[in-house]
Amino acid sequence: MSKPSPTNPAPPTRIGLIGFGCVGQGLYDILQRHPEAGFTVARIAVKNPTKLRPLPAGRFEFHADDLLDDPTLDLLVEVIDDADEAFRLVSRALRQGRRVVTANKAMVARHLPELIALQREFGGTLLYEAAVCGSIPVVRTLDSYFAQEPLLQVSGIFNGSSNYVLTRMREADSDYAEALAEAQAQGFAETDPTLDMAAFDPRSKAVILAAHACGLLLDPDAVLNLGIENVSAADIRYAAERGKKLKVVAILQPLPGGGATVYVTPQFVDADSPLYAVEREFNGVVVDAEFAGQHFWRGRGAGGHPTGSAVLADLVALRHGFRYAYAKLPAETALTAEVPDLELEVYLRSAPAELRRALGLTDVSEQLSAPGFTYDYAVGYVRLSQLHRYRDALRAGGTFVARTGRVRPVVAQPAPQLETALAAD
Ligand SMILES: NC(=O)c1ccc[n+]([C@@H]2O[C@H](COP(=O)([O-])OP(=O)(O)OC[C@H]3O[C@@H](n4cnc5c(N)ncnc54)[C@H](OP(=O)(O)O)[C@@H]3O)[C@@H](O)[C@H]2O)c1
Repeated sequence: MSKPSPTNPAPPTRIGLIGFGCVGQGLYDILQRHPEAGFTVARIAVKNPTKLRPLPAGRFEFHADDLLDDPTLDLLVEVIDDADEAFRLVSRALRQGRRVVTANKAMVARHLPELIALQREFGGTLLYEAAVCGSIPVVRTLDSYFAQEPLLQVSGIFNGSSNYVLTRMREADSDYAEALAEAQAQGFAETDPTLDMAAFDPRSKAVILAAHACGLLLDPDAVLNLGIENVSAADIRYAAERGKKLKVVAILQPLPGGGATVYVTPQFVDADSPLYAVEREFNGVVVDAEFAGQHFWRGRGAGGHPTGSAVLADLVALRHGFRYAYAKLPAETALTAEVPDLELEVYLRSAPAELRRALGLTDVSEQLSAPGFTYDYAVGYVRLSQLHRYRDALRAGGTFVARTGRVRPVVAQPAPQLETALAAD
């Protein structure tokens, strides 16, 4: 066979596309507009045979496994909305030694040890840039560029839906329900907003980044996620009066002796933080590296084109033979549920007295409560592990928690005992 040349170009790389929703269509559109990228979507698998499609019916088929079994497809793209089925398809493809791109953060976060082991055993490759902050190229940068450099901290706004709601609450002085309804009407929040507003989605992204940034494979359930379902206009005003903004911030803090502390919670962000200016549906990532100093990206974390752009970048990388180095991971890819403890300074609003006692809030520096007053809060230190333990009680009880950003090592004393009436999760 003659070598590709300007007059005899290489045939396009054949893609099997599984899923044709927001991301699948975004990718398809990008590839249609840029044939010079050298990719062709050869086969498309979807789920629902009766759905109306923007392409002729003959373009679609309904058994994704048939694409896995087609050796003429060079690369597979999995962009479906079902994490269990995505794991079944992706792990089967990796067992065949296939090269696959996915955007499914929940699936990757939950199954990363198996996915890495399958790549090592069968020689396939899985890339997932689109799964973390859409178009921001953070996974590959942490994995490759910062492969050897120690990182002091990775932090960021990893969820555009909750950031949109917080931005609109501040701009319009509206309450949570109103801002959420607006986000849903604008297409920036799902009909079921739980994954985004309760910070499960940014937690998955933090867990994925922990593998590349800190060499840690964390069980997602071991990572604290506090969201904004209980945020009120009073909390936004509290922040504004102090020159701060409320944001949902993920923190990955590698520890000198190994391991890392990882958590995702609302935080009062100062005006001198790059995250202060990340508004509406945008995401932001700050990397503090030992030698490189601080890096900051702001970009679109969702949407067909931004996410399709990240999938395209992965396709190009796969064509060049790229695979993640996971340079900071030990050879054994076991999951860990151990997140070292810390004391975090928090603003705790509307916490029933027994919950506050159970949390063990100490060193209270500020508080407001008066009989008959609906707005009551306290600022003090609480252990990360206690917040995690009572996460569901806080959520169910209507309590809003935000970090001030101050942390300190755990003071050596036993954790407060469980209150009899209070269920821990
Ligand atoms: N939307 C974003 O901005 C964004 C950003 C980053 C990451 N992601 C991730 O990307 C993935 C896709 O999200 P999306 O927003 O594009 O979802 P979506 O709009 O809901 O589309 C999902 C697609 O998957 C198809 N599908 C579901 N189960 C299938 C199966 N068993 N076999 C074949 N096709 C199947 C659906 O088929 P039908 O068309 O027949 O229903 C649909 O075409 C998710 O993991 C999501 O978390 C999305």
